[in-house]
Amino acid sequence: IGAMHKIKPVKIGIVGGTGLDNPDILEGKRVKSVDTAFGKPSDVLVEGTIAGVDCVLLARHGRQHTILPSNVNYRANVLALKNEGCTHMVVTTACGSLKDEIQPTDFLILDQFLDRTHKRDQTFYDGAHSEYKGICHLPLDTPFCTRTSKILYDAAKDCGVRCHPSGTVMTIEGPRFSSRAESKLWKLWGADVINMTTVPEVVLAKEAGMCYAAIAMATDYDSWKENEEPVSVKLVMETVKANNVNSIKVLTRAIPLIAAENWDTTLKENADLVTSSII
Ligand code: ADE
Repeated sequence: IGAMHKIKPVKIGIVGGTGLDNPDILEGKRVKSVDTAFGKPSDVLVEGTIAGVDCVLLARHGRQHTILPSNVNYRANVLALKNEGCTHMVVTTACGSLKDEIQPTDFLILDQFLDRTHKRDQTFYDGAHSEYKGICHLPLDTPFCTRTSKILYDAAKDCGVRCHPSGTVMTIEGPRFSSRAESKLWKLWGADVINMTTVPEVVLAKEAGMCYAAIAMATDYDSWKENEEPVSVKLVMETVKANNVNSIKVLTRAIPLIAAENWDTTLKENADLVTSSII
């Protein structure tokens, strides 16, 4: 193969969570309205570059933050990025903390999830789309891309941001927050942080063969902690604003590091996993 072998260039889909709905991190911005076989994504795609690397930005809840977690069209969001040629999805998500040591404003790189959602489509292979034939029983022992996650963690450290290298997110249906009893139960179940969007986003990204990694930004102590202000919209929004600067720093640092690596083998493994999961 030698010189004939061409390494596939990467393209990074960035899904901005609450607080990163409309950031100015892209150079040479072009706005593009798209549709998919599963409907429209949350908003326009914003294409451009970060440190010379092709990126596509999408606001998970829409640029004006109008779409509630249950109504986000996760399949359309993931497919829109896939259709643009994205090899990676690097996302941010505002989370509540379920551990003393994960303080509001800390970052945490997600590596596992617990799923308490109940009204979301979690597969492209739903029997209704001719391009997705069969039933896909996707293994999810490793939901997040370990290579991309490691780069995000290293980037956060380089930027001097307090960041935990791994953790389990509990994704609830929402839009309401958890009761104190629920919050204590999630703790007992071993969750580290809590949000409303990682499931099914990570599942669909894996079904689409992409490398998916997530920066969780702790905004509050949910509802479990004595002598702490329980989670509220006000608390989440205030903390998320403060974290915005850090998330942009970390992404700007991480993206050229991702682009510097060869992802051919990983992407082939991702694709093979999906193919071998379809009956
Ligand atoms: N997003 C931010 N904080 C949260 C919390 N405590 N529960 C669910 N989602 C959240």
